[in-house]
Amino acid sequence: MIVARTRTSLHEARATLPGPVGVVPTMGALHEGHLALLRAARRRDRSVVATLFVNRTQFNDSSDYAAYPRDEAADLAAFQACGVDLVFAPSIEEMYPDGFGTRIDPGPIGADLEGARRPGHFSGVATVVAKLFNLTRPTRAYLGQKDWQQTRVIARLVEDLNLPVKLVIVPTVRAHDGLALSSRNVRLSPDQRRAATALWRGLELAASAWDDDERSPAALADLVRVTVQAQPLATIGYAEVRHALTLEQVAVADPPLVIAVAAEVGGVGLIDNVVIGEGLMEDGSL
Ligand code: PAF
Repeated sequence: MIVARTRTSLHEARATLPGPVGVVPTMGALHEGHLALLRAARRRDRSVVATLFVNRTQFNDSSDYAAYPRDEAADLAAFQACGVDLVFAPSIEEMYPDGFGTRIDPGPIGADLEGARRPGHFSGVATVVAKLFNLTRPTRAYLGQKDWQQTRVIARLVEDLNLPVKLVIVPTVRAHDGLALSSRNVRLSPDQRRAATALWRGLELAASAWDDDERSPAALADLVRVTVQAQPLATIGYAEVRHALTLEQVAVADPPLVIAVAAEVGGVGLIDNVVIGEGLMEDGSL
């Protein structure tokens, strides 16, 4: 496994990789959710590139950036164990040299939900992902379902800027109690962690109500909201039923659909979702 820390060394190493090339962009603090992305890339592509960069510009809250877990040695060992060929682990200066000024605005798809909760977040994501795709030149990029809005923002970016990459969305990996795996979960105390499972319990209730033919977006969202609000340690951010691809509001809960929830537990921002519709995971294109 090659570890490239500069754009020049990445360029040299990338030139030696046979295609198709899969890229897994990460901010490190790897957990089973990331490993599922890496394994999906390893199964499908001839070469696998992982990126490791905690991107300051997508954190609207500097304390969240400071508290973001970092363990490069463990991350590199996990990449190695998953058969990654090349890791790009640049410094901040390498990604954002003096004079850097461009910001990509993904437009309405990034404006509400997480975009409203974290102003500037998706502009930071879109800008760094465009740079990472240009630098690594992947055939496919693997993204996790947990960050559903992020997958839609990146799909918009790929479409709008004609980036030659296919997106593959990999289903959320959950702990035994249903909590969606996230690098932020390590910051939860045992009580907070128990409270955090309300996100998934609410989503499960909504999904089973949908299976039982409930088609009112408000009624489905209420099931999630009420379940989260029943936890004194959790503060609801939003519970929404949206069109899964455009993220627009829907009058009737027909597929393709995403039921998305966000909450704060002990100051830690958590998100989760269920997606209802055929073929949305495998092929993330618009
Ligand atoms: O999902 C993440 O870890 C990040 O948002 C990403 C895609 C690596 C961009 O920094």
